[in-house]
Amino acid sequence: MFRFVTAGESHGQALIAWISGVPAGVPIDFEFVQRELHRRQLGYGRGGRQKIEKDRVEFLAGVRHGQTIGAPIAMRIDNRDWANWEKALSVENIPDFESAQRRLTAPRPGHADLAGSMKFNLHDARYILERASARETAARVAAGTIAKLLLRQLECEVLSHVVAVGKARLPRTAAWGEIQAVCENLDSPLRCVDAETEALMKGEVDVVHRAGNTVGGIFEVVAHNVVTGLGSHAQWDEKLDARLAQAVMSIQAVKGVEIGAGIAAATSYGSEVMDEIGYNPAAKQFTRASNRAGGLEGGITNGEDVIVRGYLKPISTLRAPLGTVDMVTKQPISAAYERSDVCVVPAGGVVGEAMVSIVLAQAAIEKFGGDSLVEIRRNFEGYLQQLKEF
Ligand SMILES: Cc1cc2nc3c(=O)[nH]c(=O)nc-3n(C[C@H](O)[C@H](O)[C@H](O)COP(=O)(O)O)c2cc1C
Repeated sequence: MFRFVTAGESHGQALIAWISGVPAGVPIDFEFVQRELHRRQLGYGRGGRQKIEKDRVEFLAGVRHGQTIGAPIAMRIDNRDWANWEKALSVENIPDFESAQRRLTAPRPGHADLAGSMKFNLHDARYILERASARETAARVAAGTIAKLLLRQLECEVLSHVVAVGKARLPRTAAWGEIQAVCENLDSPLRCVDAETEALMKGEVDVVHRAGNTVGGIFEVVAHNVVTGLGSHAQWDEKLDARLAQAVMSIQAVKGVEIGAGIAAATSYGSEVMDEIGYNPAAKQFTRASNRAGGLEGGITNGEDVIVRGYLKPISTLRAPLGTVDMVTKQPISAAYERSDVCVVPAGGVVGEAMVSIVLAQAAIEKFGGDSLVEIRRNFEGYLQQLKEF
Protein backbone atom coordinates (compact mmCIF):
# COMPACT_ATOMS: atom_id res chain seq x y z
CA MET A 1 0.00 0.00 0.00
CA PHE A 2 1.22 3.49 -0.92
CA ARG A 3 1.63 5.33 2.41
CA PHE A 4 3.26 8.61 3.28
CA VAL A 5 4.03 10.66 6.36
CA THR A 6 6.08 13.79 6.95
CA ALA A 7 8.28 15.07 9.77
CA GLY A 8 9.93 18.39 10.51
CA GLU A 9 9.19 21.78 11.99
CA SER A 10 8.88 25.10 10.22
CA HIS A 11 12.23 26.45 11.48
CA GLY A 12 13.88 23.13 12.31
CA GLN A 13 16.81 21.64 10.40
CA ALA A 14 14.78 20.05 7.62
CA LEU A 15 11.52 18.56 6.46
CA ILE A 16 11.31 14.85 5.74
CA ALA A 17 8.87 12.97 3.49
CA TRP A 18 8.72 9.19 3.84
CA ILE A 19 6.82 7.12 1.28
CA SER A 20 6.31 3.39 1.29
CA GLY A 21 4.68 1.03 -1.20
CA VAL A 22 5.95 2.61 -4.42
CA PRO A 23 6.55 -0.10 -7.03
CA ALA A 24 10.03 -0.63 -8.46
CA GLY A 25 10.99 0.81 -11.83
CA VAL A 26 9.23 4.20 -11.75
CA PRO A 27 11.60 6.67 -13.46
CA ILE A 28 12.30 9.76 -11.33
CA ASP A 29 12.46 13.01 -13.26
CA PHE A 30 14.60 15.08 -10.87
CA GLU A 31 14.06 18.34 -12.75
CA PHE A 32 10.30 17.82 -12.45
CA VAL A 33 10.60 17.18 -8.70
CA GLN A 34 12.50 20.45 -8.13
CA ARG A 35 10.12 22.37 -10.37
CA GLU A 36 7.12 21.20 -8.35
CA LEU A 37 8.76 22.40 -5.12
CA HIS A 38 9.42 25.73 -6.80
CA ARG A 39 5.78 26.00 -7.94
CA ARG A 40 4.62 25.73 -4.30
CA GLN A 41 6.67 28.80 -3.42
CA LEU A 42 5.13 31.04 -6.07
CA GLY A 43 2.09 33.32 -6.01
CA TYR A 44 1.09 36.92 -5.53
CA GLY A 45 0.66 37.58 -1.80
CA ARG A 46 3.33 35.27 -0.36
CA GLY A 47 5.42 36.49 2.59
CA GLY A 48 9.16 36.98 3.09
CA ARG A 49 9.80 33.32 3.95
CA GLN A 50 9.68 32.32 0.29
CA LYS A 51 12.59 34.65 -0.42
CA ILE A 52 14.69 32.82 2.18
CA GLU A 53 13.77 29.27 1.24
CA LYS A 54 14.79 27.93 -2.15
CA ASP A 55 13.50 24.42 -1.63
CA ARG A 56 15.55 21.53 -2.96
CA VAL A 57 14.77 17.86 -2.50
CA GLU A 58 17.52 15.45 -1.56
CA PHE A 59 16.69 11.75 -1.99
CA LEU A 60 18.05 9.73 0.92
CA ALA A 61 16.61 6.29 0.17
CA GLY A 62 14.51 4.23 -2.22
CA VAL A 63 15.80 5.62 -5.54
CA ARG A 64 18.87 4.25 -7.34
CA HIS A 65 20.17 5.12 -10.80
CA GLY A 66 17.15 7.31 -11.45
CA GLN A 67 14.46 4.73 -10.64
CA THR A 68 12.47 3.57 -7.62
CA ILE A 69 13.54 0.17 -6.31
CA GLY A 70 10.45 -0.82 -4.31
CA ALA A 71 12.09 0.24 -1.03
CA PRO A 72 10.71 3.08 1.15
CA ILE A 73 11.60 6.48 -0.27
CA ALA A 74 12.98 9.15 2.08
CA MET A 75 13.32 12.77 0.95
CA ARG A 76 14.82 15.71 2.77
CA ILE A 77 14.25 19.43 2.24
CA ASP A 78 16.58 21.67 4.25
CA ASN A 79 15.22 24.79 5.97
CA ARG A 80 17.66 27.57 5.17
CA ASP A 81 16.06 29.67 7.91
CA TRP A 82 17.37 27.11 10.45
CA ALA A 83 20.59 29.13 10.58
CA ASN A 84 18.59 31.90 12.33
CA TRP A 85 16.84 29.52 14.72
CA GLU A 86 19.56 27.11 15.82
CA LYS A 87 19.61 28.51 19.36
CA ALA A 88 15.91 29.28 19.73
CA LEU A 89 14.99 25.75 18.68
CA SER A 90 18.09 23.91 19.84
CA VAL A 91 17.64 20.16 20.09
CA GLU A 92 19.87 20.02 23.17
CA ASN A 93 18.96 21.87 26.34
CA ILE A 94 21.59 24.64 25.99
CA PRO A 95 22.53 26.74 29.09
CA ASP A 96 21.09 30.10 27.90
CA PHE A 97 18.00 28.34 26.62
CA GLU A 98 15.47 30.67 28.33
CA SER A 99 16.93 33.85 26.75
CA ALA A 100 17.48 32.32 23.31
CA GLN A 101 14.00 30.87 23.15
CA ARG A 102 11.54 32.85 21.01
CA ARG A 103 8.66 32.06 23.29
CA LEU A 104 5.15 32.75 22.04
CA THR A 105 2.44 33.10 24.68
CA ALA A 106 -0.09 35.26 22.75
CA PRO A 107 -1.96 32.57 20.76
CA ARG A 108 -3.26 33.63 17.34
CA PRO A 109 -6.99 33.04 16.73
CA GLY A 110 -7.41 30.59 13.84
CA HIS A 111 -4.15 28.76 14.54
CA ALA A 112 -3.44 25.57 16.46
CA ASP A 113 -1.59 27.75 19.03
CA LEU A 114 -4.00 27.66 21.98
CA ALA A 115 -5.75 24.30 21.54
CA GLY A 116 -2.39 22.61 20.82
CA SER A 117 -0.64 24.22 23.82
CA MET A 118 -3.46 23.14 26.14
CA LYS A 119 -3.58 19.63 24.70
CA PHE A 120 0.18 19.05 24.96
CA ASN A 121 0.53 21.00 28.23
CA LEU A 122 3.11 23.40 26.79
CA HIS A 123 3.10 27.05 27.83
CA ASP A 124 4.85 28.05 24.61
CA ALA A 125 2.78 28.00 21.41
CA ARG A 126 6.10 27.97 19.49
CA TYR A 127 6.29 24.19 19.89
CA ILE A 128 2.81 23.84 18.37
CA LEU A 129 2.97 26.36 15.52
CA GLU A 130 6.32 25.05 14.34
CA ARG A 131 4.65 21.79 13.32
CA ALA A 132 1.16 23.13 12.49
CA SER A 133 2.72 25.59 10.03
CA ALA A 134 2.11 25.04 6.33
CA ARG A 135 5.87 24.87 5.79
CA GLU A 136 5.11 21.16 6.17
CA THR A 137 3.37 21.27 2.79
CA ALA A 138 6.79 21.34 1.09
CA ALA A 139 7.19 17.72 2.23
CA ARG A 140 3.71 16.87 0.93
CA VAL A 141 4.55 18.32 -2.47
CA ALA A 142 7.77 16.28 -2.50
CA ALA A 143 5.79 13.09 -1.78
CA GLY A 144 3.22 14.15 -4.36
CA THR A 145 5.87 14.22 -7.10
CA ILE A 146 6.37 10.47 -6.67
CA ALA A 147 2.61 9.93 -6.98
CA LYS A 148 2.52 12.18 -10.05
CA LEU A 149 5.39 10.31 -11.68
CA LEU A 150 3.59 7.01 -11.10
CA LEU A 151 0.32 8.41 -12.51
CA ARG A 152 2.26 9.70 -15.52
CA GLN A 153 2.99 6.03 -16.31
CA LEU A 154 -0.80 5.46 -16.39
CA GLU A 155 -1.23 8.45 -18.74
CA CYS A 156 -2.87 10.58 -16.05
CA GLU A 157 -1.87 14.17 -15.20
CA VAL A 158 -2.92 16.32 -12.23
CA LEU A 159 -2.83 20.16 -12.31
CA SER A 160 -4.61 23.06 -10.62
CA HIS A 161 -5.71 26.64 -11.12
CA VAL A 162 -7.19 29.38 -8.98
CA VAL A 163 -10.93 30.02 -9.31
CA ALA A 164 -11.42 32.64 -6.58
CA VAL A 165 -9.46 35.08 -4.43
CA GLY A 166 -11.66 36.92 -1.98
CA LYS A 167 -14.66 38.20 -3.91
CA ALA A 168 -12.99 37.96 -7.34
CA ARG A 169 -14.22 34.76 -8.97
CA LEU A 170 -13.65 33.09 -12.35
CA PRO A 171 -17.08 33.35 -14.02
CA ARG A 172 -16.72 30.23 -16.21
CA THR A 173 -15.21 26.75 -16.33
CA ALA A 174 -11.62 26.31 -17.52
CA ALA A 175 -10.61 24.00 -20.39
CA TRP A 176 -7.82 21.47 -19.73
CA GLY A 177 -5.57 23.21 -22.30
CA GLU A 178 -5.94 26.51 -20.44
CA ILE A 179 -5.05 24.90 -17.12
CA GLN A 180 -1.98 23.30 -18.71
CA ALA A 181 -0.90 26.66 -20.15
CA VAL A 182 -1.29 28.58 -16.90
CA CYS A 183 0.62 25.87 -14.98
CA GLU A 184 3.45 26.00 -17.57
CA ASN A 185 3.77 29.75 -17.01
CA LEU A 186 5.73 30.15 -13.78
CA ASP A 187 5.38 33.94 -14.06
CA SER A 188 1.60 33.76 -13.73
CA PRO A 189 0.87 35.74 -10.54
CA LEU A 190 -2.17 33.82 -9.32
CA ARG A 191 -2.47 30.91 -11.78
CA CYS A 192 -5.88 32.05 -12.99
CA VAL A 193 -6.79 31.15 -16.60
CA ASP A 194 -8.56 34.47 -17.24
CA ALA A 195 -6.46 37.68 -17.34
CA GLU A 196 -9.35 39.99 -16.46
CA THR A 197 -10.34 37.95 -13.39
CA GLU A 198 -6.70 37.65 -12.37
CA ALA A 199 -6.39 41.44 -12.34
CA LEU A 200 -9.39 41.61 -9.98
CA MET A 201 -7.81 38.91 -7.81
CA LYS A 202 -4.57 40.89 -7.58
CA GLY A 203 -6.65 43.90 -6.53
CA GLU A 204 -8.13 41.84 -3.66
CA VAL A 205 -4.62 40.93 -2.47
CA ASP A 206 -3.44 44.56 -2.71
CA VAL A 207 -6.35 45.83 -0.63
CA VAL A 208 -5.78 43.41 2.26
CA HIS A 209 -2.02 43.82 2.07
CA ARG A 210 -2.36 47.57 2.62
CA ALA A 211 -4.83 47.04 5.48
CA GLY A 212 -2.72 44.45 7.33
CA ASN A 213 -5.43 41.91 6.59
CA THR A 214 -5.51 38.58 4.68
CA VAL A 215 -7.70 36.95 2.02
CA GLY A 216 -8.75 33.37 1.16
CA GLY A 217 -10.14 31.79 -1.98
CA ILE A 218 -10.75 28.61 -3.95
CA PHE A 219 -8.37 26.40 -5.93
CA GLU A 220 -9.46 23.70 -8.33
CA VAL A 221 -7.45 20.52 -8.86
CA VAL A 222 -8.13 18.64 -12.10
CA ALA A 223 -6.94 15.09 -12.74
CA HIS A 224 -7.02 14.50 -16.49
CA ASN A 225 -7.34 11.11 -18.20
CA VAL A 226 -8.22 9.14 -15.08
CA VAL A 227 -9.18 5.56 -15.85
CA THR A 228 -12.75 4.45 -15.04
CA GLY A 229 -13.03 2.28 -11.93
CA LEU A 230 -10.70 3.67 -9.25
CA GLY A 231 -12.23 3.59 -5.76
CA SER A 232 -15.33 1.63 -4.83
CA HIS A 233 -18.96 2.01 -3.83
CA ALA A 234 -18.76 -1.10 -1.62
CA GLN A 235 -17.59 0.37 1.72
CA TRP A 236 -17.67 3.90 3.16
CA ASP A 237 -13.90 4.13 3.48
CA GLU A 238 -13.28 2.85 -0.06
CA LYS A 239 -15.25 5.68 -1.67
CA LEU A 240 -12.77 7.78 -3.60
CA ASP A 241 -14.70 11.04 -3.24
CA ALA A 242 -14.54 10.65 0.55
CA ARG A 243 -10.82 9.85 0.44
CA LEU A 244 -10.12 12.87 -1.75
CA ALA A 245 -12.15 15.09 0.56
CA GLN A 246 -10.11 14.00 3.58
CA ALA A 247 -6.83 14.50 1.75
CA VAL A 248 -7.69 18.01 0.56
CA MET A 249 -9.35 19.01 3.85
CA SER A 250 -6.11 18.07 5.64
CA ILE A 251 -4.30 20.97 3.91
CA GLN A 252 -3.67 23.86 6.30
CA ALA A 253 -6.40 26.54 6.04
CA VAL A 254 -8.72 24.46 3.79
CA LYS A 255 -12.19 24.64 5.36
CA GLY A 256 -14.33 23.19 2.60
CA VAL A 257 -13.95 20.64 -0.21
CA GLU A 258 -16.15 20.31 -3.25
CA ILE A 259 -16.26 17.55 -5.87
CA GLY A 260 -17.48 18.72 -9.28
CA ALA A 261 -20.47 21.04 -8.95
CA GLY A 262 -21.16 19.68 -5.45
CA ILE A 263 -22.05 22.88 -3.61
CA ALA A 264 -24.28 24.39 -6.33
CA ALA A 265 -25.86 20.93 -6.84
CA ALA A 266 -27.40 21.08 -3.38
CA THR A 267 -29.61 23.98 -4.43
CA SER A 268 -30.29 22.87 -8.05
CA TYR A 269 -32.83 20.49 -9.56
CA GLY A 270 -31.88 16.92 -10.52
CA SER A 271 -32.17 17.62 -14.23
CA GLU A 272 -29.57 20.40 -13.85
CA VAL A 273 -27.06 18.25 -11.99
CA MET A 274 -26.70 14.76 -13.53
CA ASP A 275 -24.49 14.08 -16.56
CA GLU A 276 -26.45 12.26 -19.28
CA ILE A 277 -24.83 9.15 -20.73
CA GLY A 278 -24.14 8.53 -24.44
CA TYR A 279 -22.13 5.96 -26.45
CA ASN A 280 -19.57 6.39 -29.21
CA PRO A 281 -19.51 3.07 -31.14
CA ALA A 282 -16.40 3.97 -33.18
CA ALA A 283 -14.31 4.57 -30.04
CA LYS A 284 -16.24 1.86 -28.12
CA GLN A 285 -16.64 4.39 -25.34
CA PHE A 286 -19.38 5.72 -23.12
CA THR A 287 -19.58 9.51 -23.23
CA ARG A 288 -21.03 12.28 -21.05
CA ALA A 289 -22.72 15.47 -22.14
CA SER A 290 -21.26 17.31 -19.11
CA ASN A 291 -19.07 16.64 -16.06
CA ARG A 292 -20.90 18.12 -13.12
CA ALA A 293 -20.17 15.02 -11.05
CA GLY A 294 -16.48 15.89 -11.17
CA GLY A 295 -15.52 12.46 -12.52
CA LEU A 296 -16.90 10.48 -9.57
CA GLU A 297 -20.15 8.57 -9.16
CA GLY A 298 -20.79 6.29 -6.19
CA GLY A 299 -17.21 6.81 -5.03
CA ILE A 300 -15.84 5.39 -8.32
CA THR A 301 -14.06 7.29 -11.10
CA ASN A 302 -16.23 7.36 -14.24
CA GLY A 303 -13.60 8.26 -16.82
CA GLU A 304 -14.26 12.02 -16.83
CA ASP A 305 -11.76 14.48 -15.34
CA VAL A 306 -11.70 14.31 -11.53
CA ILE A 307 -12.39 17.84 -10.26
CA VAL A 308 -11.78 18.74 -6.60
CA ARG A 309 -12.02 22.25 -5.18
CA GLY A 310 -10.40 23.40 -1.95
CA TYR A 311 -11.92 26.36 -0.11
CA LEU A 312 -9.24 28.24 1.82
CA LYS A 313 -10.02 30.55 4.70
CA PRO A 314 -7.96 33.77 4.89
CA ILE A 315 -4.57 33.34 6.58
CA SER A 316 -4.88 33.63 10.39
CA THR A 317 -1.75 35.70 11.14
CA LEU A 318 -2.68 39.36 10.68
CA ARG A 319 -0.32 42.33 10.59
CA ALA A 320 -3.17 44.26 12.24
CA PRO A 321 -3.56 41.61 14.94
CA LEU A 322 -6.74 40.33 16.59
CA GLY A 323 -7.33 40.24 20.31
CA THR A 324 -6.26 37.26 22.38
CA VAL A 325 -5.26 36.35 25.94
CA ASP A 326 -1.72 35.68 27.15
CA MET A 327 -1.47 31.98 28.03
CA VAL A 328 0.66 32.69 31.12
CA THR A 329 -0.65 36.00 32.58
CA LYS A 330 -4.23 35.44 31.36
CA GLN A 331 -4.32 39.16 30.46
CA PRO A 332 -5.81 40.52 27.18
CA ILE A 333 -3.11 41.12 24.56
CA SER A 334 -2.72 41.46 20.75
CA ALA A 335 -2.11 38.17 18.94
CA ALA A 336 1.50 37.51 17.97
CA TYR A 337 2.58 38.59 14.49
CA GLU A 338 5.40 36.98 12.52
CA ARG A 339 6.35 37.40 8.89
CA SER A 340 3.38 35.86 7.12
CA ASP A 341 1.64 35.28 3.82
CA VAL A 342 -1.34 37.43 2.82
CA CYS A 343 -2.80 35.08 0.18
CA VAL A 344 -1.81 31.44 -0.44
CA VAL A 345 -4.47 30.21 -2.86
CA PRO A 346 -2.07 29.34 -5.77
CA ALA A 347 0.29 27.53 -3.37
CA GLY A 348 -2.69 25.76 -1.80
CA GLY A 349 -3.55 24.50 -5.28
CA VAL A 350 -0.07 22.99 -5.75
CA VAL A 351 -0.43 21.22 -2.40
CA GLY A 352 -3.92 20.14 -3.51
CA GLU A 353 -2.42 18.59 -6.64
CA ALA A 354 -0.01 16.62 -4.45
CA MET A 355 -2.77 15.34 -2.14
CA VAL A 356 -5.10 14.40 -5.02
CA SER A 357 -2.20 12.66 -6.82
CA ILE A 358 -1.35 10.67 -3.70
CA VAL A 359 -4.95 9.45 -3.29
CA LEU A 360 -5.22 8.56 -7.00
CA ALA A 361 -1.86 6.75 -6.91
CA GLN A 362 -3.01 4.80 -3.85
CA ALA A 363 -6.24 3.83 -5.62
CA ALA A 364 -4.35 2.89 -8.80
CA ILE A 365 -1.99 0.62 -6.86
CA GLU A 366 -5.00 -0.99 -5.14
CA LYS A 367 -6.65 -1.61 -8.51
CA PHE A 368 -3.66 -2.73 -10.57
CA GLY A 369 -1.42 -4.14 -7.82
CA GLY A 370 2.12 -5.04 -8.75
CA ASP A 371 5.56 -4.75 -7.22
CA SER A 372 7.05 -3.32 -10.38
CA LEU A 373 6.01 -0.79 -12.97
CA VAL A 374 6.11 -3.55 -15.63
CA GLU A 375 3.54 -5.54 -13.65
CA ILE A 376 1.28 -2.50 -13.07
CA ARG A 377 1.43 -1.52 -16.75
CA ARG A 378 0.54 -5.08 -17.82
CA ASN A 379 -2.46 -5.14 -15.48
CA PHE A 380 -3.46 -1.62 -16.54
CA GLU A 381 -3.35 -2.43 -20.25
CA GLY A 382 -5.28 -5.67 -19.71
CA TYR A 383 -7.94 -3.70 -17.85
CA LEU A 384 -8.17 -1.07 -20.61
CA GLN A 385 -8.79 -3.91 -23.08
CA GLN A 386 -11.48 -5.31 -20.75
CA LEU A 387 -13.18 -1.89 -20.68
CA LYS A 388 -13.16 -1.76 -24.50
CA GLU A 389 -14.82 -5.18 -24.64
CA PHE A 390 -17.39 -4.29 -21.98
C1 LIG B 1 0.63 27.17 1.35
C2 LIG B 1 0.15 27.69 2.66
C3 LIG B 1 0.84 28.72 3.32
C4 LIG B 1 0.39 29.23 4.53
N1 LIG B 1 1.06 30.27 5.10
C5 LIG B 1 0.58 30.81 6.25
C6 LIG B 1 1.22 31.96 6.82
O1 LIG B 1 2.20 32.51 6.28
N2 LIG B 1 0.71 32.47 7.97
C7 LIG B 1 -0.39 31.91 8.58
O2 LIG B 1 -0.81 32.41 9.61
N3 LIG B 1 -1.00 30.83 8.07
C8 LIG B 1 -0.54 30.25 6.92
N4 LIG B 1 -1.18 29.16 6.39
C9 LIG B 1 -2.35 28.57 7.10
C10 LIG B 1 -2.03 27.95 8.45
O3 LIG B 1 -0.97 27.01 8.36
C11 LIG B 1 -3.27 27.28 9.05
O4 LIG B 1 -4.36 28.16 8.99
C12 LIG B 1 -3.02 26.91 10.51
O5 LIG B 1 -2.03 25.91 10.58
C13 LIG B 1 -4.28 26.42 11.24
O6 LIG B 1 -4.83 25.30 10.62
P1 LIG B 1 -6.30 25.31 9.98
O7 LIG B 1 -6.51 26.65 9.35
O8 LIG B 1 -6.26 24.21 8.94
O9 LIG B 1 -7.28 25.03 11.08
C14 LIG B 1 -0.78 28.66 5.15
C15 LIG B 1 -1.46 27.63 4.50
C16 LIG B 1 -1.03 27.15 3.26
C17 LIG B 1 -1.80 26.06 2.56
